[in-house]
Amino acid sequence: MGHIAEILDHASPVLPVLVVENPQLALPLAEALLRGGLAVLELTLRTPQALESLWLIQQELPEMVVGAGTVLDAEQARQAQQAGAAFVVSPGYTESLAQVTKGLDLPWLPGVQTASEILQAREAGLRRLKLFPAGAGGLTLLDNFAGPFQDMMFCPTGGIHAGNLGEYLARPNVACCGGSWLAPQALLDAQNWDGITALAREAVAIAERQRFVGK
Ligand code: 3PG
Repeated sequence: MGHIAEILDHASPVLPVLVVENPQLALPLAEALLRGGLAVLELTLRTPQALESLWLIQQELPEMVVGAGTVLDAEQARQAQQAGAAFVVSPGYTESLAQVTKGLDLPWLPGVQTASEILQAREAGLRRLKLFPAGAGGLTLLDNFAGPFQDMMFCPTGGIHAGNLGEYLARPNVACCGGSWLAPQALLDAQNWDGITALAREAVAIAERQRFVGK
């Protein structure tokens, strides 16, 4: 699975965005999401334990496709790849990240919010982008981007939850949605793995209903 398009198709409908502080919880968390039907995750580099957690999951749970999120610079992209990340996600787009991920042959999902950023990413050969933060008028942006950018697909993230997931997935230019609501801190702290599996299943059910209704 070498391309971001393939990875996102596999992630469809949802890419869980994880913040892991305790590496011992990383594996049961990933297993809970997998049991719920989600086989791709984004582990953010927001804690000192993130790379170790990422490494553990990809070693112990080969069915799970693990990416690194919150990748802000070239060094983090390299570290993520060394820890076994299958792809990296950034909140925004920079030319240096475009170059380094291309050089490393590391699939990259950068965040965009404007037509100019989409054009830049498109010039770099990218056709799948994170729309971030989706909470800032994401549905309107998607509808407006659909006209000029007919070959671009988006993964809205930031402000997505079970209540608005269906509305986002109904957009023809949405490949999947990302979000942290699938692994809330309270359930993680309580090690409530069944609760996390239930949230994953709920997301999959929303997507299936959407597919049945049709885009
Ligand atoms: C991200 O890094 O993609 C966002 O912080 C996730 O946003 P959410 O917490 O609103 O899902």
